[in-house]
Amino acid sequence: MIKNIVLLGSTGSIGRNVLAVLRENQEHFRLIAMAAGSNTQLLEKQIREFSPQAVSVKSQKHARELQEKFPRKKIVFGEEGLQEIVSLPPADCVIAAINGTDGLAAAVQAIRLKRRLCLANKETMVVAGDLINREISASGAEIIPIDSEQSAIFQCLAASPRRQVRRVILTASGGPFFRDKHRDLSSISVEEALAHPTWSMGRKITIDSATLMNKALEIIEARHLFDLNPEQIDVVIHPQCVVHSLVEFIDSSFLAQLGVPDMKLPILYSLSYPERLAGSCPSLDLPGLGKLEFFPADRQRFPSMQMAYDVLRQGQNAGAIFNTANEVAVEYFLAGRIGFKTIFAVVAHMLDQGDYHPLHSLGDVQETIHLTRKKTIEHIESEVIK
Ligand SMILES: NC(=O)c1ccc[n+]([C@@H]2O[C@H](COP(=O)([O-])OP(=O)(O)OC[C@H]3O[C@@H](n4cnc5c(N)ncnc54)[C@H](OP(=O)(O)O)[C@@H]3O)[C@@H](O)[C@H]2O)c1
Repeated sequence: MIKNIVLLGSTGSIGRNVLAVLRENQEHFRLIAMAAGSNTQLLEKQIREFSPQAVSVKSQKHARELQEKFPRKKIVFGEEGLQEIVSLPPADCVIAAINGTDGLAAAVQAIRLKRRLCLANKETMVVAGDLINREISASGAEIIPIDSEQSAIFQCLAASPRRQVRRVILTASGGPFFRDKHRDLSSISVEEALAHPTWSMGRKITIDSATLMNKALEIIEARHLFDLNPEQIDVVIHPQCVVHSLVEFIDSSFLAQLGVPDMKLPILYSLSYPERLAGSCPSLDLPGLGKLEFFPADRQRFPSMQMAYDVLRQGQNAGAIFNTANEVAVEYFLAGRIGFKTIFAVVAHMLDQGDYHPLHSLGDVQETIHLTRKKTIEHIESEVIK
């Protein structure tokens, strides 16, 4: 049976890979709606190629422009627009690939309507993990992760009952500065930080990869996705990005998932699960790989990972504070206004000053995000950039 897909974030790095997967698998999947932010030039091309029933964009202005070009198509906008397209009756799977937290309410809506949520967006579980899990328990919806590390863990966990899991091990590329151990992190430029050695991704996640904040977000995400204790989550540096993550069981057996570093692989799996479909990703040439290396993660040089465990210990709205402070700090770094290492200092400061309380609703999450954004900007403007 053909599955009907709603894609949130079609013009982004994940979104474009999703469309490549759909293009190759038209007998299995049909795109019924898509959403993007403001890259209407690319979105127009995508609409012409995939002819979805409905399209959502970020602003009313962009919606008006598109409506003129596609007078017979349903064009909506903003948060309500996103909710409207995930609610389209024939939708089977919603792919969450908007960066940041703009797609949060739409993700919750998809869960309430029992759609399969194919989750690329890390922030969803980081800022609202407990809330999302309550929604999932209530509706019985399923989340299939797209992030390659979480997809690997999801696949390995299927092998044995959960009580037999000792720990999960997230692999990290180490980012562009892992090998250069003597490099002073304060002097790293935006261009250097954006030059990821293996993956081609959006700008924000590429910086997170260089600071290992990306791994910190994944530690928090894994705890909520797989109901693990923080002590059961480890990180190991694996520069080749071939082993996408591992699970160790109580008998000391390890299972790992391997594949070429190409997001089309976990995207296709999230859509086809529990089946597997033949895809166009090349097979791994094992002898050609040479060596696969593993190194401990340096938590002194990259304090981000320790922050993740602190966030999990704190619970409540700590994930939302952590994610928002990092988001703002990365924006300032990308704008050339703070240094690379200052990202750590800003996030640590905001966690130190955190106003911690439980999250009962999406409104509570949005409020923490709003207040943390405001306070982080104030902190940077008044105490960091003098
Ligand atoms: N890239 C990867 O390989 C990768 C791997 C694992 C997980 N992830 C996660 O997946 C998410 C997306 O990452 P990415 O690298 O694909 O990001 P990206 O390249 O920056 O793309 C973000 C997408 O979201 C859209 N968008 C932003 N705000 C929107 C809004 N308010 N309404 C509708 N659409 C909006 C953007 O539209 P416009 O461009 O049109 O403005 C774009 O299509 C992130 O949470 C990231 O952490 C990414």
